[in-house]
Amino acid sequence: MRLSNRILNMQFSPIRKLAPFAAEARMRGVKVYFLNIGQPDVKTPSAFYDAICNYRPEVLEYGDSQGLQALQESFIEYYKKWGTEYTRNQLFITNGGSEALILAFTVLCDAGDEILSPEPYYTNYNNFAQQADAKIVPFLTKAEDGFHLPSKEVITSSITNRTRAILISNPSNPTGTVYTAGELRMLADIAKEYDLFLISDEVYKEFVYDGLQFTSILSLKDIEDRTILIDSISKRYSACGARIGSVASKNADFNYNIMKLLQARLCAPGVEQIGAAALKDTPDSYFEETKAEYQARRDIIMEGLAKIPGVVCLKPSGAFYVVAKLPVDDAEEFAKFMLAEFSHEGKTLMVAPAGGFYSTPGLGKDEIRMAYCINQEALKDAMNILALGIEAYKAKKGLK
Ligand SMILES: Cc1ncc(COP(=O)(O)O)c(C=O)c1O
Repeated sequence: MRLSNRILNMQFSPIRKLAPFAAEARMRGVKVYFLNIGQPDVKTPSAFYDAICNYRPEVLEYGDSQGLQALQESFIEYYKKWGTEYTRNQLFITNGGSEALILAFTVLCDAGDEILSPEPYYTNYNNFAQQADAKIVPFLTKAEDGFHLPSKEVITSSITNRTRAILISNPSNPTGTVYTAGELRMLADIAKEYDLFLISDEVYKEFVYDGLQFTSILSLKDIEDRTILIDSISKRYSACGARIGSVASKNADFNYNIMKLLQARLCAPGVEQIGAAALKDTPDSYFEETKAEYQARRDIIMEGLAKIPGVVCLKPSGAFYVVAKLPVDDAEEFAKFMLAEFSHEGKTLMVAPAGGFYSTPGLGKDEIRMAYCINQEALKDAMNILALGIEAYKAKKGLK
């Protein structure tokens, strides 16, 4: 008996790959700061739970395939703030942003088709694309440029007759980069010129710092029929376990055809949709406080990194991640070293080696991604441990 090449060619998550080393460290009594995963520690608004507690239908039935009407309407209302009015036939509730991406790729791609994305990118895009027998084709962005987009010529040089879409995560996971209005404009022009869709994964759009103005794909009115917006309540409302997201488009063909997939998978989780619909009354102060907290943490990380000789990391403006180039030969080996061999006052940390966020072999070998989802005191301690760990690793390996 054999399994599909599709599954055999898929990768395990680089974010969770070192978990057994972390488990062993904890068994030895070492405290591990988990900077490897973007699991927010911010409280989920109580409105979510209040709504669920009061929901007692006699039968928990299947819901509408396109989503609970009240939830669709609350998302539609939310996007008005970003200048776009969707209808209920243009915005669909999904099992998280993850399912939204898989559905979008399946609608757009035949076997062998390509989706262009700036590298490094959210590593799960690979497996989502492979479910549609498609693949992510990267174009390079660099730590030295704050991972901003390269020129139009560099991007278009990767376009082939199999390219169906350009995909960005904005603000970006893993880099925290927030693309400028000019960068969005360039992508829109490329999409028009080469007849492509532009998919924007904006699950972190509420987390943009330093008073920066976020440019959503929704502002690109001249390519409305080619844009696909991916969203989720996972990060926005710190509700990752609810598994509620959305995919929205003004392309009639896309919307007509995605219904086949939505109907086949029946519906998104019913109870969680009730909870999610209640989040519409979350006050602005929730986002302001959350944003201020993440920004302060970002600053702690940047201060910590600035003190480590040889680190390259421009200050990111969004999401809750940074990718830093370290003065080490192999970031994965370093990450393992931190868990298996190093501790300071009984503590260490877990980071994600950034190689897993690149698809070009060898890239990101000296980079790590850190998520700042732990409290400020812990983060200060973790940055001190990182600096000491790098020194110890360099000494062990005889690196300058
Ligand atoms: C960029 C990006 N897109 C999508 C997702 C998936 O989110 P969800 O929990 O809504 O499936 C994540 C999760 O970390 C993410 O970082």
